[in-house]
Amino acid sequence: MRMYDLIYTKKTGGRLSAEQIASWVAGVTAGTVPEEQSAALLMAICWRGMDTPETLALTLAMRDSGLRLDLSPVPGIKVDKHSTGGVGDKTTLVLGPIVAACGVPCAMFSGRGLGHTGGTVDKYAAIPGLRVELDAEAFRASLRATGFANSAQTADICPADRKLYALRDVTATVESIPLITASIMAKKLAGGCDALVLDVKCGGGAFMKSIEDARALAQAMVAVGQAHGLRVKALVTRMEEPLGRAIGNAMEVMEAVEILKGLHGDGDLARMSFRLAAEMLILGGGAGTLPEAETRVAAAVADGSAMGVFRAWVAHNGGDPTALDDFSLLPGCRRTVTVRAEAAGFVQAMDSRALGLLAMELGAGRRSRQDQLDLGVGIRVEVRVGQRVETGQKLLTLYCNDRDGSPLPPSWITIGPHPCEPALWLLESI
Ligand code: URA
Repeated sequence: MRMYDLIYTKKTGGRLSAEQIASWVAGVTAGTVPEEQSAALLMAICWRGMDTPETLALTLAMRDSGLRLDLSPVPGIKVDKHSTGGVGDKTTLVLGPIVAACGVPCAMFSGRGLGHTGGTVDKYAAIPGLRVELDAEAFRASLRATGFANSAQTADICPADRKLYALRDVTATVESIPLITASIMAKKLAGGCDALVLDVKCGGGAFMKSIEDARALAQAMVAVGQAHGLRVKALVTRMEEPLGRAIGNAMEVMEAVEILKGLHGDGDLARMSFRLAAEMLILGGGAGTLPEAETRVAAAVADGSAMGVFRAWVAHNGGDPTALDDFSLLPGCRRTVTVRAEAAGFVQAMDSRALGLLAMELGAGRRSRQDQLDLGVGIRVEVRVGQRVETGQKLLTLYCNDRDGSPLPPSWITIGPHPCEPALWLLESI
């Protein structure tokens, strides 16, 4: 099979067969396909797209390029969740223990952050001693012992995706719905789950800026999952202001723990985490209807069983569970800086991308993959969209160590004279 023919077929709007796609991905994994030919094919896919059978073939070829986890020895329907990434998104830390406490095995793989968005694995790194890179045996053992397993994706899972993503990153070919779909779904299928809830973020702080693109990505991922026999559901959610109040790794652990302890239950972060957990329960057979699932989720928080799972999971994986009750054991910061309102009015909008970039500058995120994180720094967002603020009122608190970060762009917050309603967080369910 000649790579030239694949590139020519896609460039001229043709379809690639599953065999052609498998042969390309095998060549990428083995290092026998020249990078310029893969780059040309990626660009052709960006322009011409792929239909569902092609996207499924790419997903399966990338899944099979490395290790596949076998979770069948653990009883039950194993449920995972994927978020396309947002600012302050710590829903995984909240919903994982809740789902497990409701009796549905929750087997999740998570990523590290890059640029303005954080990563779950980085947040866990703030918990002293906690192991975040588990091999297959340790992953299954955590799932058996606590009902919950959550690990970084190890290097032996989907190596073809890692190589192709690196190439996409430098050839402006990341933004392609079939390529994103295959990249995400390959890793999820390799992780061995039986059911998957997708949180596709939409808005200024997200990968997908428009509802049309977010919907198309959600539909493509659901179609590929279903074609493979996976139980799958997608929620399209708004990402305009940061999710919850905290941006920064240790700070986000604290906020998630507070929600698991029953605090801030009416905030956007709790509402979204509880809804995603409820969808996971339904797919995992733990509830028949949404109201039933939501009742079970609320009970697992109220009776302390979800927090109990989180403590047990941290201890099982080498972490210090006392840090979940004594936050002084988590990484901290030496000083704070306050940003105050220059005028009175109502908060109309927030630029969460700007806030994510500021947190990155303070050391909470990575500019490049090699950057070292400062786990104790971050930002606390003191106001929400729709809130009335007075001149001089606190808007942000920056938690700093060595770095100050660059000044905020004036557009990070819009304060206007007219009252405004906070926007709905759930845009669509697919
Ligand atoms: N996240 C992924 O894992 N892959 C993509 O292609 C984009 C976002």
